[in-house]
Parts: sequence; structure tokens; C-alpha cells
Amino acid sequence: MCGIIGIVGKEPVAGRLVDSLKRLEYRGYDSAGVAAVVDGPGGGRVERRRAQGKIRNLEAVLAEQPLVAQNGIGHVRWATHGAPTVTNAHPHTAGRVTLVHNGIIENFAELKAELKAAGRTFESDTDTEVIAQLIDAELATGLAPLEAFKATLDRLTGAYALAVLVEGADNLVLGARRGSPLVVGEGQGEMFLGSDALAVGPFTNRVIYLEEGDYVAIDHDSARIFDASGASVQRPVKVVPASAVMMEKGNYRHFMEKEIHDQPEGCQRTISAYVDALTARTAIPGDVDFKALERIQIVACGTSYIAGVIGKYLIEQLADLPVDVEIASEFRYRQPALRPGSLVIAMSQSGETADTLAALRYCKAKGMKSAVVVNAQESTMAREVDVVWPIHCGPEIGVASTKAFTAQVSVMIALAVAAAKARGTIDAAEEQRMVRLMLEAPRLIAEAIGLEDALKEIAFDIAKARDVLFLGRGPMSALALEGALKLKEISYIHAEGYAAGELKHGPIALVDDQTPIIILAPYDSYFEKSASNMSEVMARGGQVVFITDPEGARHAPAGARVVVTAPASDPLVSTLVMSAPIQLLAYHVAVVKGADVDQPRNLAKSVTVE
Ligand code: AGP
Repeated sequence: MCGIIGIVGKEPVAGRLVDSLKRLEYRGYDSAGVAAVVDGPGGGRVERRRAQGKIRNLEAVLAEQPLVAQNGIGHVRWATHGAPTVTNAHPHTAGRVTLVHNGIIENFAELKAELKAAGRTFESDTDTEVIAQLIDAELATGLAPLEAFKATLDRLTGAYALAVLVEGADNLVLGARRGSPLVVGEGQGEMFLGSDALAVGPFTNRVIYLEEGDYVAIDHDSARIFDASGASVQRPVKVVPASAVMMEKGNYRHFMEKEIHDQPEGCQRTISAYVDALTARTAIPGDVDFKALERIQIVACGTSYIAGVIGKYLIEQLADLPVDVEIASEFRYRQPALRPGSLVIAMSQSGETADTLAALRYCKAKGMKSAVVVNAQESTMAREVDVVWPIHCGPEIGVASTKAFTAQVSVMIALAVAAAKARGTIDAAEEQRMVRLMLEAPRLIAEAIGLEDALKEIAFDIAKARDVLFLGRGPMSALALEGALKLKEISYIHAEGYAAGELKHGPIALVDDQTPIIILAPYDSYFEKSASNMSEVMARGGQVVFITDPEGARHAPAGARVVVTAPASDPLVSTLVMSAPIQLLAYHVAVVKGADVDQPRNLAKSVTVE
């Protein structure tokens, strides 16, 4: 959503703030800004530098108007309230207070009216400025900075992660979190605040994860942490793995390209955490009793939702265990009929998506056991569930999810096999066969990635399209959704994913000789039906890109514009193998169109607001 950083340091702060914001840019890039305590006669004065758009625009402002200071705060914005202009860019200032914010204040309108009635004037349309005005008003009553901050927090409804400077309190940054993540970075004679461990990664690997409702005062030598009641608390310091190497693009042009190519390794690491390779048996972390389970409810958004749909197909087919998958933003508001005895699984790369978190909390409140399939293992969701099922693909920076998706699907496959064995729908020999298929999958994914040149060729044609249809049956119908999502979110071409059997109930009206139709059809039990659908669309001039495997290529109806032959794979793992072609197609179409692949317009990597 947005990214924030705060530093009470010993070195020039402007470059450090920018370095950290570059690591946070995947969280939002509508605008960027920094503020610092600049030494001056009579004590420090807080100065701001802000710019619309990417961080490079902020760097240009700083080159023109340097900030010479050691303490400061910074922000990258994904706009919620107020257009992405400089006026609405963070940091926001009111009197002695300058701050940055990630989240949404739900009662900002009434607070703004109260402050205006008290004679205060506003320069921006943001909810964030209201927080700065409130703190400044509390300071004006004579409260010290920390007390004024706490009094303000008690009046806010909604989500926030904050970093705050107060003129006159030169070596102090205040921070707080509720509904948006915030960590403290512990340095040598300096302290940091950041949205996540990556933000403080350039300065320290010693990280304190603040809990919901915590607020903190950092100076050079200490981080005084308080819980929501105002009681002083200690939170553990964790040493986080050096993720710097994971942050670099290497010799790839984009993080997304690198992350597509990282999938064999990411899936291999993930699968290895869920099976015992020596005995070829599943080894699922945590204490879920699949035999006793009556039902699974999966809640997620976007690509993570699609991974959940694939999980549904596999778990129901293999384990005869009912699974419902629902988009979190719908689920959380429709009063779903839930019963204890079910398991809720949240699917989330970031572990911070607001709608998924709310849906998860709804299920927990109904007495359901909870689990999360997550990449960020210190995220809010990871800290609130009974069972954490991590994916081990490393930080995913590209806004369009790729390696996290196939890692999530890998976990779904492992859960399906383990549940089937636990419920007796497969025997030990079948479990071992399936585990071996899983262990071979990374090699097949690597082979599928080897189709890149063919997909690059096809991309030139697809890039000219106005509309694109993706079709598939069974788990491939979910992959059709994912192919459409990838294409539209990075190339801005309208695309729809459809269950192939549904085409004749309306969407076939879209088909003409200008419409590329991507059909995902490995040679499985659905193939003949998909081949019929292919003939139906070709009879109407549809330009078919047929993505299949060697046996499917041999049996495909003639007339496809192009046939892409992925490696042969068992239906258990075919979604892993067929993901790479649709990811590479979307990627190369976006490159042909000159789109901003890693940071598509209007998007953010983690949507921590509703
Ligand atoms: C994926 O390509 C999208 N960027 C988006 O749909 C994403 O999957 C969704 O926002 C959910 O994010 P999460 O996995 O971090 O919860």
C-alpha cells in the first residue's frame, strides 16, 4: 500500500531515506517524500522535500535542494484519499509536527471538521494531515510529544503505521501501528522504523516486529515501546536473513522476469518443506487433522485467490474434502454461514492484504481453526493464525505475482496429497508416487521456462490486441483467470479468463478474427472437451494460441494460429508447469508495449486498505 521509513542516525540521512524508499517502492509509487531535522539556530527545524511519481523525481528535487541532516522520515505513496499530487504527497506538516502514514483513518472527516471549527486550516485532501493537525493541537495544550502522540492515537479509527517528527524534539522519531505493519530496526547507536524488514535492511538485520496497537519512541540508543493501553512492553529482537541478494535484479531487466526464472528454485524450496524426500511421504508443518476436518474455507484476493481455486480442485478430487474458495472482499461482508470444525486458510503473499486479513479474523471469531499460506513469515496474518504454511520463494518485488503464485500452488498440492492420505482416499504407495511427481516438478517448470523465445514471438501479435480471451477446463480454468490477470495488470490489455465450457453461454459473441484466444489444454481428462471448444472458436475466426503438451499437440485440431508445447506433466503438477508460459506471454507483451512491468500504473504490491 504505502511504505514508510524513519531514522535517528549518525550519518547523512537524505541518501539513506532514499535507499530505503527504493526498497519500499513496490508498495506504492504515486508520489514520494522525505523530511528531516535540519540543524539551525535555536535547534532543529523540520524541512520537507516531496515529488509526484517515482522516487527518481524525488532524487531530482533533493539534488536541487539538498537536506543536510541525520534524522528524518520518508514515504512512498499509493493514493487512497486525494489525487497523487505533490500537495497530497507525504510527509505532511502541521505546526511543529511532520509525519508519514500508511493506512486509512476512517473517522478523518469528523476529526477534520472538529479541527476546522477550532480554526485550523488544511493544505491537503488527505486523511494523514488530520493526524498531524491533531498531534499539533495536543502539543499546544502543553502535552509532551509522546503524550500528545498517544492522546491522538486514542482518537483515531482505522488503520495506520506512522513515523512522526516533532520540531524541538530533535533526536526523536515516534512510531505506531494498527492494521498496517511497522518494525523497529536496531542499529549501533542509531535506530530505525520501517514498514517491513526490507526497509531497514540497508542499516541493520536486527528487527523488532511491533504488535497491533503498539507505539514507540526511538532515539539514538533506545526504542521505548508501549502497548495500546500505554503500558511499557518489551518485544523480542529478531535477526532477519540478509535479503539484500534477493532484492537485486541480477542480469534481468525486471524483477518480474527474474522472479519467473526463479520459480524452479522457489518451488523446489517450498516443496521440500512439505515432503520428506527420503521416504517420499508428505510432511506438513503444524497440527491440522485432515481426517477430522469437515470443510475448508479459503479466503484470498487476486492471484492468491486463484491459487486457492487450484487448491480446491485438487483437495476435493484427491481427498474428498469439501473446499470453498471465496474472494475476501466479498466474503467478509456477506455474513457467511460458518461452523466450527472447519479450517480457514488465508492465502496471501504479503500476509497484510486488508480484505484477506478481515475475512480471516471473521472466521477466527466464528471459532474456526486458522492457517495462512504466506511468503512474509512475520506478517500480521502469520502472527494471528494457528498454523503458518510458509512459501519459500524469497521476497517477491514485482507487483505481478509469479514465483509466489507457483509456490502457493505447490503448498496446495502438498496439502491435497497429505489430506488424501490422512482420509484414506489414497494409500501409501500412491502418496509416494505423488510426492515424487512433486519433487520432479521444478525440473519441468524450468523446461517450460525454456519456451520463452516462442512466447516472445507470440507476444508481438498479442500486443496489438484490444481484447484477449483465456480458456481452460478444470484447474486450467483457474489458470485461465491467472493468465488474464497477468496480461491485464502489466500490459493494460483487456483480458478475460473463462471456463471453456462457459464460452457458448455468452462470451463466444466476443470471438472474431481480431480476438486472440489462449487455450490452456494439457492432454488430460478435459482435453477432448477443450479441443471441441477450440474448434468452436476457430469456426468463428478466433485466433487460437493453443498451449498444451506433446500428446495434446498430436491430438489438437488443425487451424490454431500457434501451438505451444509445454513439457508433459501429471495432472497433479500440470498447473505448475503451465504457469510459466502464461507468465512469460504477459511479461513479453508488456515489454513490447513498453509498459512499466514491475510497477504497473494504479497498482501496489500489497493492498493494506479495503
Ligand atoms: C497479483 O499479480 C496481484 N498483484 C494481486 O492480485 C495480488 O495477488 C493480490 O493483491 C493479493 O495479494 P497478497 O497475496 O499479498 O494477499
